[in-house]
Amino acid sequence: MPVLMELRVKVSAAIATSRRNTNMKNTLIAYSITALTALAFLAGCSDLKDTLPNPSSGALSVHPDGWVTASSANFHGKAIKDQDWDMRGCQACHGKKYEGGYVQVSCRTCHKEPAGPENCITCHGGVANAAPPRDLNDRTDKAVKTVGAHQIHLLGSTLAGPILCSECHKVPSTVYDPGHVDSQGPAEVAFNNDLTNTKTTGVTPAPSYNASNATCGSTYCHGAFKNGNTTFAPIWNDPSGTQMACGTCHGDVTKTTLAEKALPKTTAQGGTHPVYPSNLTCATCHGDVVDATNKIINPAKHINGKLNLLGAEQSF
Ligand code: HEC
Ligand code: HEC
Ligand code: HEC
Ligand code: HEC
Ligand code: HEC
Ligand code: HEC
Repeated sequence: MPVLMELRVKVSAAIATSRRNTNMKNTLIAYSITALTALAFLAGCSDLKDTLPNPSSGALSVHPDGWVTASSANFHGKAIKDQDWDMRGCQACHGKKYEGGYVQVSCRTCHKEPAGPENCITCHGGVANAAPPRDLNDRTDKAVKTVGAHQIHLLGSTLAGPILCSECHKVPSTVYDPGHVDSQGPAEVAFNNDLTNTKTTGVTPAPSYNASNATCGSTYCHGAFKNGNTTFAPIWNDPSGTQMACGTCHGDVTKTTLAEKALPKTTAQGGTHPVYPSNLTCATCHGDVVDATNKIINPAKHINGKLNLLGAEQSF
């Protein structure tokens, strides 16, 4: 009885995988044993896939009712989340690449992105990239810290060009890379890349993220640079836009004109920036970055790790 034997081996393998998976639901195992024994019985020595029950017919299904209904408590996405996002147990039946396996039911009919369900936007992220929104709980509100200011950093804004995930995270190359899906949150924030750590004369940033109040401290980008506001700690989930004002990262936000607000600490204030001569605009010396009204005209040259002075990018 080769088919039956093969099934038994595969079911044991699937269950063994499930057991290694400490949180795998016992119910799924029970369903698997009952349903597959029944399947094997029905199948006999004939072609198994011709006799697979309709998944929505309930009674003979390996999986509980609602397994493919997103709103159901039994939804497979929820089941995977409840077992710490580990879906490797599914591969035993659905195939190593989730392409159908020996049960001939492919995940990829619905999960059509490259790598199928292991694609980077299956569990978080969306159209633009793999970052929230959508967070791991399907939220999209920027006031929620798991969503926060992701997209303005990643897509760029009127102030700055786009930055990479790796400025703030260790980025996995596949889902089960060590350090990725390793806890129920918060996600690890790690500033290992160049920009946030840019050193300037006399200031070495020590970037950190405080998950309890969702603030970032001592990043180059938000003020940890020569003559900048080195103690400014922006709030990640404040979408009001006030933290983009001139004077937050350098200068003094309480002043009146844009020039006064943006002017970094001058020699008169214990810094080294030239005292702003009233007959000059910022654009006289930083004309690649701002225009005469102090509008940022080239976001890619602002907050890029280099001082743009008289048309040249330089360390400072
Ligand atoms: C009949 C279509 C269908 C099939 C087949 C299917 N899925 Fe899904 N899956 C969905 C839908 C719909 C969602 C929810 C998408 C959303 O929330 O936007 C989903 C969500 C998920 C999620 C994300 C859970 C979350 O909450 O973010 C994972 C992981 C997943 N599926 C894995 C699998 C695996 C593994 C297989 C095959 C063993 C599979 N799916 C087969 C339709 C399917
Ligand atoms: C023991 C073997 C086995 C395991 C393990 C298994 N499945 Fe299945 N799955 C099946 C079989 C057989 C079907 C065909 C319909 C049925 O019996 O429910 C199926 C059907 C499905 C369907 C319905 C597809 C459709 O087009 O309607 C989804 C979704 C699914 N499985 C997801 C998963 C996910 C996610 C996991 C891991 C958490 C998983 N399966 C683990 C055997 C298995
Ligand atoms: C400017 C810094 C920054 C960048 C760039 C960034 N992230 Fe994040 N990320 C964060 C912060 C802060 C959190 C919130 C951590 C917490 O929950 O306290 C977070 C959380 C997350 C979460 C967890 C969401 C949840 O529901 O818990 C995911 C997933 C994530 N980021 C993915 C990405 C991806 C993918 C990229 C690039 C496409 C990216 N991030 C770029 C700072 C960043
Ligand atoms: C099966 C669901 C799932 C898939 C698929 C997935 N992720 Fe994640 N991702 C998570 C979870 C869960 C977290 C939060 C982990 C934590 O809190 O430690 C996370 C967090 C992240 C983070 C934030 C840093 C961290 O490790 O906490 C980044 C960046 C990220 N994922 C990138 C990716 C990339 C790139 C891919 C594709 C290679 C991917 N993810 C695919 C579930 C997934
Ligand atoms: C999010 C923090 C932040 C905000 C808000 C900000 N800046 Fe900057 N700014 C920087 C950083 C960092 C530098 C250091 C040089 C660099 O990396 O481009 C800088 C440099 C400058 C320079 C020097 C030229 C250069 O190299 O970029 C000018 C001029 C300037 N900013 C004007 C402004 C004006 C005007 C505003 C308000 C519209 C503003 N900044 C708001 C972070 C900020
Ligand atoms: C006369 C030329 C000149 C004018 C006008 C000028 N800057 Fe600068 N700026 C400099 C020089 C020189 C530096 C390098 C200062 C240093 O490293 O000590 C600099 C550096 C900076 C930096 C980087 C931080 C620092 O101080 O090193 C910022 C930000 C900046 N300027 C903003 C402005 C803004 C905003 C204005 C208009 C209010 C302005 N600058 C007007 C010459 C000028």
